[in-house]
Amino acid sequence: MLKQKKFKRIGVLTSGGDAPGMNAAIRAVVRYGIDLGMEVVGIERGLRGLLDKNFVKLHLRSVSEIIQRGGTMLRSARCPEFRDLSVVRQAVQNLREAKIDGIITIGGDGTFGAAKDISLEGLPAIGIPGTIDNDLPYTDYALGFDTAVNTALDAINKIRDTMNSHDRVSIVEVMGRNCGDIALHAGIGGGAEVIVVPEVPITMDEICKKLEEGRLAGKSSGIIVLAEGAGKAEDYVSEIQKRTGIVIKPAVLGHIQRGGMPSNMDRLLAAQFGAHAVRLLAKGIGNRLVGIKDNKIIDVDITEGLKIKREFDMDLYNIASILAK
Ligand code: F6P
Repeated sequence: MLKQKKFKRIGVLTSGGDAPGMNAAIRAVVRYGIDLGMEVVGIERGLRGLLDKNFVKLHLRSVSEIIQRGGTMLRSARCPEFRDLSVVRQAVQNLREAKIDGIITIGGDGTFGAAKDISLEGLPAIGIPGTIDNDLPYTDYALGFDTAVNTALDAINKIRDTMNSHDRVSIVEVMGRNCGDIALHAGIGGGAEVIVVPEVPITMDEICKKLEEGRLAGKSSGIIVLAEGAGKAEDYVSEIQKRTGIVIKPAVLGHIQRGGMPSNMDRLLAAQFGAHAVRLLAKGIGNRLVGIKDNKIIDVDITEGLKIKREFDMDLYNIASILAK
């Protein structure tokens, strides 16, 4: 039944910060689209590529050997110009000239804002969530988050070894501009003594108290996981050291969290998100965001999806705090 596609030619792009699993999603879109009898066009360098007409036809073999690769074969870029409606209209005109009937955008909220405007201008657009921050409230997971958490966890494990040997504490700064999910998940997995996230205010006194309590309970070393949205590791070091007398070593993980081989969870999500997005376009449906909620693949209206407010998992945060004792 799905073979009665409405669209002949669809586009796919990755935009904003790259995330592991984007390549696996491109592969899924290309192969599922071709299976439904469509032509799939890659748009290079994200939204910017829509303006520069960086269009390249993709075949089954164009997406060979990318499932295991981090980054994005289509490249990415941040393109704030899309806040301007005349820029959106130019992009739609370029797509129409290239006979592209609908597009799949893989990215975060900035990308989805543009996808919404493109849809409202009459060219159906679908969003697939791809951002290590996991800051898209309509979906439980975005591509790249699981891999980034595992990368951060690997670093925390290694840092813990050396902190243990020297009776030190490390403050490990992870990514997450406005969102503490990487810190919370890697912090739980890494048994962090303290997790500092933008969603939960915590004072320097409280951080020091937790470390001192740990010392009294027999801990000689420790890990503080700090989300970048809650401050910089180096700003905490001297203050905690001064108050507690404990040697504190900062570690900023940075862009290492954005690269690398995607985890199987990210590849599985990529396959499901990609197929679902193509199926929507095949039915002539645009203006939707694809995601996963309670273990089911879902799609929601873009405007509605972007309005949903994030709820930080306080229960998980409290569990982490109790287990760190
Ligand atoms: O994509 C999300 C993110 O990795 C944030 O965690 C981080 O703050 C930001 O992007 C960094 O962006 P850029 O690589 O453009 O400096």
